[in-house]
Amino acid sequence: MRAAAITPGKKDSLDVIDVDQPRPGDGEVLVRMLEAGVCGTDEELNSGIIGEAPPGSDYLIIGHENLGVVDEAGRDVRALRRGDLVVATVRRACPGMCFGCRTGQPDMCESDDYFERGIKGMHGYMAEYYIEHPENLIQVPPSLRKIAVLLEPLSIVEKGIEQAIKIQERMIWHPRRALVAGAGPIGLLAALILRDTGLEVSTFATRGMESLKARIAGAAGIDYFNVKETPIEQIVEKQGPLDMIVEATGSSEIAFKSIGLVSNNGIVCLTGLSPQQRTHPVCTDCVNMDLVMHNKAVFGTVSSNRVHFERGLDRLASVERRWPGLLERMFTRRVSLENVKEGLKEDKEDIKILVEIGA
Ligand code: BGC
Repeated sequence: MRAAAITPGKKDSLDVIDVDQPRPGDGEVLVRMLEAGVCGTDEELNSGIIGEAPPGSDYLIIGHENLGVVDEAGRDVRALRRGDLVVATVRRACPGMCFGCRTGQPDMCESDDYFERGIKGMHGYMAEYYIEHPENLIQVPPSLRKIAVLLEPLSIVEKGIEQAIKIQERMIWHPRRALVAGAGPIGLLAALILRDTGLEVSTFATRGMESLKARIAGAAGIDYFNVKETPIEQIVEKQGPLDMIVEATGSSEIAFKSIGLVSNNGIVCLTGLSPQQRTHPVCTDCVNMDLVMHNKAVFGTVSSNRVHFERGLDRLASVERRWPGLLERMFTRRVSLENVKEGLKEDKEDIKILVEIGA
């Protein structure tokens, strides 16, 4: 079968290769891939900054945003049948089975020894077929077929926002307004979730007011700002006190700035990765003083587990009901598996690029 693979650590090594089609054992499921989403992590994998091949392999099949259909369910598989639509989770338990991994939360692994399909130590989903255990597969209703490839990135944001709300149970909290820094796929999904929970939401990016990002935000009643015209500080002045900021640009500078911009008692949720190791001067006394004197909370969140995928399904359905067709507008380009390299070349107006693998 065909698969999109990189040589970890090597720049621009992405290629479409031939590999043996996997065969399901007892208790396993063979999934035929329909489509995969391209994400910033895939670009970082291809730039050689991150990525780890499975033990004994010199290549890594990439792809972690996925939607497929059950092709064959091995003996002993009761929960899924041929023809079922499925999305697979990404993180897998560490060999030491720490407390997090033992309790079904590999996203909260206590070590750095966890695996991530398509990213770290395990092949991913940008291939014609893959094999998985049913407990790592989420069954998707056919009504969500067109948008279900967004379930993986949505699960990441669902987890972050759920944790922010839990942390704020430290007081009697009455949030009104949230800001999402960045309007890429993660930023837009975060803004839509927050809007869906009833908050007033604003977001910003570097694209103009006519851009698709701005229009999608506008259609859901989210205030969009072009940060080139309206600096972040001005956005905050215009919007009023922000109870929550979700950082989704991956800029550590904006992450630190967010701490100063969130209101007293507010919370900053950091979701953006910054593997480039850039440095920015920061007044550490000021940050410390601000956090302490104003009861502010800051936390980071990565990955997700089955629970967030399951809740994400409800969220997808809810967003689709409120703003029919809006999520689908995020798909700006579709490429075939053979042309996956084109899919990794992001145009400035792109939001989510899909790699179409099967019909
Ligand atoms: C993926 C997560 C993963 C993270 C770090 C993200 O792009 O969606 O599942 O944990 O990258 O590898």
